[in-house]
Amino acid sequence: MSNIEQTLSIIKPDAVERNLDNEIKEMFTDKGFKIIKDKKIQITKAEAEQFYKVHETKPFYNDLCAYLSSGPIVVMILEKENAVLGNRELMGATKPEDAAEGTIRKKYGISIDKNSVHGSDSVENAKIEINFFFKD
Ligand code: CDP
Ligand code: MG
Repeated sequence: MSNIEQTLSIIKPDAVERNLDNEIKEMFTDKGFKIIKDKKIQITKAEAEQFYKVHETKPFYNDLCAYLSSGPIVVMILEKENAVLGNRELMGATKPEDAAEGTIRKKYGISIDKNSVHGSDSVENAKIEINFFFKD
């Protein structure tokens, strides 16, 4: 039985700044993800705070929101069989030094905060995050 899902991916400021967006998109399409929608935008700190609300009690919350709003990002809806988990696997561990070979964060991540990509962590959150950036 097929289980086609959609998930939200963000190419973060550190990667967009290094012009890695096309290479990262290619890593997704090479793995069979369809990029259903994508746009390059810059969000405000208030929008980043809303997006990352689940982390609001964490010590890194303020820096994280300042960072995500610090420059252009590329937001994408990715679609594939089991896309949520597949995206998390292709992204790699949060800390680039812990990420497996062949993952985006291993290849391009700089540090735990500048780790190049965001990906939804569940089907439920994917729906919320897709709606956050692509309301229509
Ligand atoms: O992005 P991911 O789902 O792998 O990790 P998270 O635990 O949901 O944290 C969200 C983001 O916060 C991470 O991608 C990191 O950029 C940042 N973070 C941080 O700066 N310092 C930490 N100790 C943990 C996370
Ligand atoms: Mg997360």
